[in-house]
Amino acid sequence: GSTRFYDFKVQTKRVTRLCNTKDIVTINGMFPGPSVYAQEDDRIVVKVTNETPYNTTIHWHGVRQKLSCWFDGPSYITQCPIQAGRSFTYEFTMVKQKGTFFWHAHVSWLRATVYGALLVYPKTGVPYPFKVPHEEHTLILGEYWMQDVVELELNTTASGGPPTPANAYTINGQPGPNYNCSNNDVYHIDVVSGKTYLLRLIHAGLNMENFFAIANHNLTIVEADGEYTKPFTTDRVMLGPGQTMSVLVTTDQSLGKYSMAMGPYMSAKGVKFQNISSIAYFQYLGAVPNTLSLPAKLPVFNDNLAVKTVMDGLRSLNNCVNVPKQIDTELFITIGLNVQKCRSKTPEKNCRGLNNGVMAASMNNISFVKPKTSLLEAYYKKINGSFTEDFPGVPLMYYDFVNGAPNNVPNNTQALNGTRALVLEYGTRVQLIMQDTGTVTTENHPIHLHGYSFYVVGYGSGNFDLKTANFNLVDPPYMNTIGVPVGGWAAIRFVADNPGVWFMHCHLDIHQSWGLGTVLIVTNGQGELETLPHPPADLPQC
Ligand code: C2O
Repeated sequence: GSTRFYDFKVQTKRVTRLCNTKDIVTINGMFPGPSVYAQEDDRIVVKVTNETPYNTTIHWHGVRQKLSCWFDGPSYITQCPIQAGRSFTYEFTMVKQKGTFFWHAHVSWLRATVYGALLVYPKTGVPYPFKVPHEEHTLILGEYWMQDVVELELNTTASGGPPTPANAYTINGQPGPNYNCSNNDVYHIDVVSGKTYLLRLIHAGLNMENFFAIANHNLTIVEADGEYTKPFTTDRVMLGPGQTMSVLVTTDQSLGKYSMAMGPYMSAKGVKFQNISSIAYFQYLGAVPNTLSLPAKLPVFNDNLAVKTVMDGLRSLNNCVNVPKQIDTELFITIGLNVQKCRSKTPEKNCRGLNNGVMAASMNNISFVKPKTSLLEAYYKKINGSFTEDFPGVPLMYYDFVNGAPNNVPNNTQALNGTRALVLEYGTRVQLIMQDTGTVTTENHPIHLHGYSFYVVGYGSGNFDLKTANFNLVDPPYMNTIGVPVGGWAAIRFVADNPGVWFMHCHLDIHQSWGLGTVLIVTNGQGELETLPHPPADLPQC
């Protein structure tokens, strides 16, 4: 492959949305940020220079970073942030990867405005496994706040209450006409009739999952999370933050304008959110201008069945001979939210909030505390003190569903705070069964794993039960972010063949801030091609 060079300047930029003007953090003054283009097996080199006062890192979401963990980007996991005035050059190869990816800031809640597409085409001469589209367009779903997002995160974690809802959902940075004073903030795509278009959907939003639909048009899913899928035709899709999806759309209608709508999917009870859809227009050139379709039909905000239907439709294009049929390590991981009572060992900032308790989010009842230094560096240089290697594992066969009761965790189940890593030996065939739990409410969690894609071999509602669980080892989708169904479970498989320290977390930022994550440490193998290289010379220091 060839090498693609990019220059990213982290800059503040004054923007106006919803008749409100403020400074946001951007790359090169663009919102959404610049697209990065490459072909399969190309090397991508991006020099990131921070011209703002905000600590920054960039994560290349979905890139498996084979033997290049140093360039993965999550702050305090694989690197210290790039401080004001400093720069860091990310270098990695799209090894056997092509499709729709994105990049985003991975520090505080800066992803709110710091994101862009990463589009990787097949090698020259290799066609798509579907009809050649007339044109391609990228639509990035996001959320917009008038408030400063760094403050927003601090307020939310300090109060322990639910996060302030976004002022608007956005499509390519634009809220569309449904909000107060937003008539000038509308995105559109021009199309001609009688063609097939490829739309690359990317969910970069912070705290909400969303449905997406286009009035009067079907969507045929052909790719999800950077892997081809069996074509699946539907009239709406759902994406959680961190998910990408490519859909084909045929322009077989006759009006001038059709609305493309993005509305909330929120299955949890008692959460405040904008129950308004963001609209962009799909405009037919040559048709009678300004003849507008009826609104796109979106499911109601808590339609779990609509979500399941999309999930059921996601199958790998080819039957996956690589799905691990045997597993060496199986771990049952509860994920969920609970209201934390104050406890003496809890750091003070996690001990404030409503009713003398705060919201906590955890995996196996450990609320992940971000360290103050790079975990990868600490692990590599064998510096003690920033983490322990004792993430609690509960082999499934011993999990006590009666006392552990995932869906109704007893009141005394409190999350412990800690930075506890799960260590996996190189080459281990792993199965993780993630079970949604919650003492306050359950909800769909988009769980993202860095450094890997994984086969989603099963999922279901309620508590996982080996006797009734159905596993698909034939054509499961190969993803990097899986929406664990509300109050349900999902099982994923992968081979731990990429050494490094890899973050696994809920891609809803509020849950990440509350501790819904952990890190996997994958050890070195025997050969040179199984060993993490040395750190780059310009690696930022904390
Ligand atoms: Cu898209 Cu850890 O992130």
